[in-house]
Amino acid sequence: MDGTAEKQRDSLASRYKASTDYAKDAEGLTAPYVSQDPQETAALVRALDDAAKKGKKSGGFSVKKTRYAVASSPTGAEVDSWRFNDWDYKKPDLPTYARGLFTTRTQHGVPEIAVRGYDKFFNIDETRDTAWSAIRERTKGPYELTLKENGCIIFISGLEDGTLLVCSKHSTGDRSDVALSHSSAGEKHLEAQLERIGKTKEELARELRKRNATAVAELCDDSFEEHILAYGPDKAGLYLHGINLNIPEFITYPSPLVQKFAEDWGFRKTGLIIIDNIDDVKAFLEEVAETGAHDGRDVEGFVIRCKKSTNPGVGPYHDWFFKYKFEEPYLMYRQWRECTKALISGKQPKIKKHVKITEEYLLYARKRLAADPKLAKLYNQNHGIIKLRNDFLEYKNMKGTDAANLEDDGAASVTRDIILVPIATIGCGKTTLGVALTKLFGWGHIQNDNITGSKRPPRFTKAVLDELNEHPAVFADRNNSMRQERKQLLTDVKMQHTTARLVALHFVHDDINTVRKVTQERVIQRGDNHQTIQAATDVNKVIGIMEGFIHRFEPCDPEKDPDEGFDAVIDLDPTAGSRENLEVVIRELHRLYPNFVKEVPPAEAMDEAIKFAMESYKPDLRHIIPDRSKNKDKKKEGKQEQQQQPAAQKPPKKKPLEYMSVDMPTKGVLDALEKTFGSVPVEQARFFKQLQGTRRVQAKFHVTLMHRATAKEHPELWQRYTKLHGEATAENPDAQLGELDVQLERVVWDSRIMAIVVRLIPVNPEDAEVKDPAKPDQPGQPKWQCVNRVAHITVGTRDDSVKPKESNDLLCRWLEVGSGGETGIGELIMQGKPILRGIVKGVLSR
Ligand code: GTP
Ligand code: MG
Repeated sequence: MDGTAEKQRDSLASRYKASTDYAKDAEGLTAPYVSQDPQETAALVRALDDAAKKGKKSGGFSVKKTRYAVASSPTGAEVDSWRFNDWDYKKPDLPTYARGLFTTRTQHGVPEIAVRGYDKFFNIDETRDTAWSAIRERTKGPYELTLKENGCIIFISGLEDGTLLVCSKHSTGDRSDVALSHSSAGEKHLEAQLERIGKTKEELARELRKRNATAVAELCDDSFEEHILAYGPDKAGLYLHGINLNIPEFITYPSPLVQKFAEDWGFRKTGLIIIDNIDDVKAFLEEVAETGAHDGRDVEGFVIRCKKSTNPGVGPYHDWFFKYKFEEPYLMYRQWRECTKALISGKQPKIKKHVKITEEYLLYARKRLAADPKLAKLYNQNHGIIKLRNDFLEYKNMKGTDAANLEDDGAASVTRDIILVPIATIGCGKTTLGVALTKLFGWGHIQNDNITGSKRPPRFTKAVLDELNEHPAVFADRNNSMRQERKQLLTDVKMQHTTARLVALHFVHDDINTVRKVTQERVIQRGDNHQTIQAATDVNKVIGIMEGFIHRFEPCDPEKDPDEGFDAVIDLDPTAGSRENLEVVIRELHRLYPNFVKEVPPAEAMDEAIKFAMESYKPDLRHIIPDRSKNKDKKKEGKQEQQQQPAAQKPPKKKPLEYMSVDMPTKGVLDALEKTFGSVPVEQARFFKQLQGTRRVQAKFHVTLMHRATAKEHPELWQRYTKLHGEATAENPDAQLGELDVQLERVVWDSRIMAIVVRLIPVNPEDAEVKDPAKPDQPGQPKWQCVNRVAHITVGTRDDSVKPKESNDLLCRWLEVGSGGETGIGELIMQGKPILRGIVKGVLSR
């Protein structure tokens, strides 16, 4: 960078300091106001209700409705939360784009929007609208840049009966499974801040209601929940960053008015920078991105608020946001946090970037965790994350940004063992890409369509791995449209090949109508030139199969399981054409692993390779697959081809260990159930009575610690259990392995299944922590560990079609949505929460 440019940057940085004092500019501004139109709200609720009922099948968008009672409402008000899938926001024609939306009814039954979040907004370059060129063309200033405060969002509004409603993104009120919910934590802060300025919740409720508005704030408080950036006591609180009108359309206050409101009502103000010109905005953001810090502190990014029009220059303009997230050192910190948690739970940390410094950090963290046993527990509760990180940086005498900028020789050392994994639907051009890459680089290419017969997933994985013995990389040609297929491939590969890197080629399906049109045209054009999809022979069947894949398609979300397992994700546009996608793949691989793809081949070579793939390639196999649309049950389960048969369902040859069980005393469990259900209204005891009446209460009860179906997810634990079991039963096949106290805490049910949520308490103190002899410096695990998300006893199921293991699904749902209201889930605390002694045993396959 030459001296002039540097000077320019200096002047930029000093010109824009994050300020919390724009409130003084609020004088000349008037707050927007639009009252609610009950007809319009009713139409919105109807549209949402329809979509919620149809579920994913609607083909449009899916939304989940959850009803909450507002605890503090004197009139017993209830609110419904509407939760969309994140990726649905990219679809056109939604009834609203609000992320965070609650509706209610007044005492006269008039529908109302109670809380309205911002319109979902996207990162720069994440959508067409957020490319710089589009932003420059269609938006106008002033551009309000607010710091992306790093906590959880809290919505506040006023109900008809004067109640102040406080919600998190999708829920409100207390939850049974956590000490303090986000919304309750937010409400506590709110009470404290109002008390400080001598105002009441009722006053705030009335004020917001008068404005027909929702106040949007960020709850940042390390003592409640640490995120990545630090908010000690002096910084903790509710940072107000927006005020939205409670209407379907998105109208939000200008930021100076938001700051003024924050001053008047005791909120913390969100740092704000106002820049008039879009080029200055871009220059400013790019400068801050270099450091990840602004105004002396680390920031995660900015939200930029402006106005946008589809008819620029003419109008109308409406409120519109986009975000600019900084990569580093934020991402490195996040990786450190995740790796530390992996270390604590005895899993293999996943290091994707900053390999060397992260390994050093982990060495340091390992020592600290070993020295202070309390640290691990606190860390898992999200405490001490920042301190540990800062201690390490101090010990290294380094700043976070410098650590993140260190030469990353991890990626540079990669020269082979890359597996390319498409995430696609039929006709996206997977095989075309695979053939072209093979031709250009001599890599391997395995097509799932060439594998016939049973047990395809493990055979596919094996073929892919075998190919790595011969080639530096392999194209794993399968749709992988569902998360579970990705999970299978990721887990199986990582079990067998620890250094392979899996790179997802994500064919983004946002513009689903165009994807559908383009791929159908191609596949019809391709005719019978395919192993299984023979469009010339039966076009309707083929379109049906294609639609099935499109419906089941689950976009790649690199921040969540299982897609976080990919070492990198390359986004492709299925409608753009294979030549363009080929180039994107090659350029990205070159950027990611410069010593693997050393250079991008000349354009003519790429043209040639695509031409060959499209014109000369012929499959060397043909087979017929049954028309699955006639096989409804299988389809319902979302099973695709023969890819997902869990091994545990097949009859085993020998008698291996099926699961580890804690056998419970039948009478103790039955007595506890009788007592609990004996003291509640009949309505609540109905399903239990039904189970008793139809003899569906189990004859024997047990807690499953681990089933062999999950052996792949917890290989070390399964090995330990198999070994313990083998040793104990060498002489007596019926031997007990140990004892465990089981506390019966709650009983939870829906219309299909009932389960008791239990707590496992070691009988012998030495069972509380068993260390892995190979890893003496790591914290141990309880001897009798349960891998289910919620340890439980299944009480009974409605009929034989409901399998006891579905308790897991029920309890996961219960954790997410709670019980009562519209959840369809019942819940009672077990009377006296009795503790019963259980016997640990291994159960063999039948
Ligand atoms: P399945 O194996 O059926 O899941 O499809 P696939 O994803 O492997 O798609 P494939 O590569 O077979 O492409 C589908 C058809 O579209 C083939 O006939 C390709 O020759 C053709 N095709 C691929 N890319 C392009 C492209 O960029 N433009 C056009 N016009 N056709 C293409
Ligand atoms: Mg193919």
